[in-house]
Amino acid sequence: MEKIKMILDCDTGHDDAIALMVASKHPDIELLGVTVVAGNAGLHHTLPNTLNVVQHLGLQVKVYGGMSRPMVRDQIVGKKIHGESGFDGPVFEELRIKAEEEHAVNFIIRTIMESDGDVVLVPVGPLTNIAMAIRLEPRIAEKIKLISLMGGAAGMGNTTPSAEFNIYADPEAAHVVFTSGAPVVMMGLDLTNRTIATEKVIERMEAIGNKAGKLFGDIMRFTLQSQKANGLDGGPVHDLTAVMYLVHPEFFRMKEAFVEIDLSKGPSYGRTVADINGRLGKEPNALVGLDTDLPVFWDEVERVLRLHN
Ligand code: BDR
Ligand code: CA
Repeated sequence: MEKIKMILDCDTGHDDAIALMVASKHPDIELLGVTVVAGNAGLHHTLPNTLNVVQHLGLQVKVYGGMSRPMVRDQIVGKKIHGESGFDGPVFEELRIKAEEEHAVNFIIRTIMESDGDVVLVPVGPLTNIAMAIRLEPRIAEKIKLISLMGGAAGMGNTTPSAEFNIYADPEAAHVVFTSGAPVVMMGLDLTNRTIATEKVIERMEAIGNKAGKLFGDIMRFTLQSQKANGLDGGPVHDLTAVMYLVHPEFFRMKEAFVEIDLSKGPSYGRTVADINGRLGKEPNALVGLDTDLPVFWDEVERVLRLHN
């Protein structure tokens, strides 16, 4: 099988780090670069947070800093779940590596324009970098093979009753992405809230006995606490699902739908209005994740974490 050429766009972030751990070692993925955006915290946190994971696990991948602000709205961050730094909990050694000079948006454009149309984007934070790239070089929209993103919800939100964090943090960017014509896979809360790393899952990954298993534990134990306040048994590994879908689409129940981002500044601002039942009769613009087979999902996570040193 030819490897999937992937750019991971993240706002590290606890579950972003888990997505990076799997994307960087999965045998079927060629990780072309990691681009970083503000989201769970400001870029001055999410960029070093990402570099910390890369350095700690000795990953051979380049990291590019991107947009520090949303396109239109005032900035919000994800302090409640991820702490002040966006990645509270794990402790890292002093950072010795640096991000590349090239801006993330330019890297995305260059990589896609130089490709044979075989590059997949995996945005797991606010969609600012991707939307800016599409606006700066509209020709990329038809060259992107697929955008597999974590964000949105057909049902309830997690930041407002209507909106999920990544979309709410930059709804205008999400609108650009969903109307771009590029194929979109939307892994939203309907699905991702099921992928909870319970105490049992955490113990299983820690038992692997390598750095990645230990980091999984340090990360998800923090989220275990912050999500307890939300009445959950652990932290969902939301972002990982957007990576996992690419290598194992058979793990997921998906449905094609027309998805529109509510940009009106009322109570539904940032809602991904997903026409799951096809009531509008509009051409679908996304494949929406609805459910997953959890036992095989966790088996695969363990298998890949074991591939780390
Ligand atoms: C999304 O928001 C962030 O808190 C997580 O990293 C994930 O990308 C979940 O709503
Ligand atoms: Ca994220």
